[in-house]
Amino acid sequence: MALQWMFLLLLTPLLAAHNRDKPSPNTFGKLSEKGKCKAPSDWDSRLRFYPKRISYDLNEVVQLNCTGRFLPSVPQIQCISRGAQAMWNETATCKETCQQPQWDSQLQFSPNQNFYRVGEEVTLSCFLNSTPPLAVIRCANRIPPKQSNAWEVLAIGGTWHRLAQKLTCTMAKCPKPQWDAQLQFSESKTKYPQNTELTLTCPKGLEPSFPKVKCTKEFQRVSSGKPDYVDAWWGRNSRGAWTRIERDVLCTEMCQRPPWDSRLQLVPDQENYGKKEKVKLSCPGGLQPTYTEIKCQTGFQDYDDDVTQYSVQKEFWHARDSTGAWVPIQSSVKCIEGCQRPPWDSRLQLVPDQENYEKDQEVYLSCPRGFQPTYTEIKCQSEFQYYDVLIHYSLYKEFWHGRNSTGA
Ligand SMILES: *[C@@H]1O[C@H](CO)[C@@H](O)[C@H](O)[C@H]1NC(C)=O
Ligand SMILES: *[C@@H]1O[C@H](CO)[C@@H](O)[C@H](O)[C@H]1NC(C)=O
Ligand SMILES: *[C@@H]1O[C@H](CO)[C@@H](O)[C@H](O)[C@H]1NC(C)=O
Repeated sequence: MALQWMFLLLLTPLLAAHNRDKPSPNTFGKLSEKGKCKAPSDWDSRLRFYPKRISYDLNEVVQLNCTGRFLPSVPQIQCISRGAQAMWNETATCKETCQQPQWDSQLQFSPNQNFYRVGEEVTLSCFLNSTPPLAVIRCANRIPPKQSNAWEVLAIGGTWHRLAQKLTCTMAKCPKPQWDAQLQFSESKTKYPQNTELTLTCPKGLEPSFPKVKCTKEFQRVSSGKPDYVDAWWGRNSRGAWTRIERDVLCTEMCQRPPWDSRLQLVPDQENYGKKEKVKLSCPGGLQPTYTEIKCQTGFQDYDDDVTQYSVQKEFWHARDSTGAWVPIQSSVKCIEGCQRPPWDSRLQLVPDQENYEKDQEVYLSCPRGFQPTYTEIKCQSEFQYYDVLIHYSLYKEFWHGRNSTGA
């Protein structure tokens, strides 16, 4: 035992030195393995190996590099064993590259590298994380020889075109768009500089379909090697995502997401809903929403402040009741412990007739003439099942209690 520990103590500094400049997997305990890989001498002379050694241990991973404007065909190789022999798992070469173009100091490259492999696609933007990007380019093979590698640009439609001109971030101005006449721009101008965010507002009670917009230049195609751009307007929705504006921006009547029970699940789940838009409601953990479907309504509401009468555009929500009619929501929709309308005999008549019933709510049952219900009165019961730590809700199970005509 003591001897083994001593051996390990002696080995540790050696191992540390051995592992220092090597980002490879742990080779601890593999020292006694037979065979090593020799540094390749007959490969591409431009190849460089990190770490630089005469031989490498079995399983050692070696980083590759190339001199000049070349990149290795693979970033790393590994010394492996084949039968009794140690050998490299593949042969590497140095490949032609394209240097990152120096077209415009404002250009952002993604990925950002000094050199790019042939076929490697690069996204160009004029601003960090800007939407849309200025263009997507790729490094193309040089033809004919002696010419340096060139860049191709992706045109709308997915075709690649050889670029004969540099791409720059020079921004032009876009004429003010002819949208809804009620829209107010944060600055009133006839032209707006590209890539500048503008705030749009609407008269009271109305919301712009995009509250923030910007004009950008969008790469369209290459004509005789030169890029052609068009103006394009982009809008930011209330969730912060930029999308291309395909139709006019309008002042519309909108409802905001209702600030009711935080457990309510809305489908679709949005910040704003357009007029007449319907939203499905549900609750987690066996709870029932007091209404399962709501609709955004807007309209004018009259006010009277003793001096003048005025009306204000107001949003409100309607809910669909059990008969399918839309009724104004008096207070709010909640998630309650309750029962859904029982899916029993379709001839049963329920009083009251609702989609969901609250806990302890009593419901009277009757049947068409000539039939008797097995129960004349039922009561919604719900029982706590358990607390689900994953969704952070208590789970409830619903059931009905019945009373028959004899009162049992
Ligand atoms: C390869 O060489 C380049 C240029 O000298 C250097 O920037 C890069 O970090 C090197 N890569 C590796 C893996 O050593
Ligand atoms: C060779 O080994 C390196 C490093 O483990 C790995 O990245 C590469 O994919 C391997 N190549 C092959 C052909 O298995
Ligand atoms: C009412 O329910 C009790 C208990 O289940 C049962 O004994 C009785 O026969 C029922 N009466 C009728 C009229 O269904």
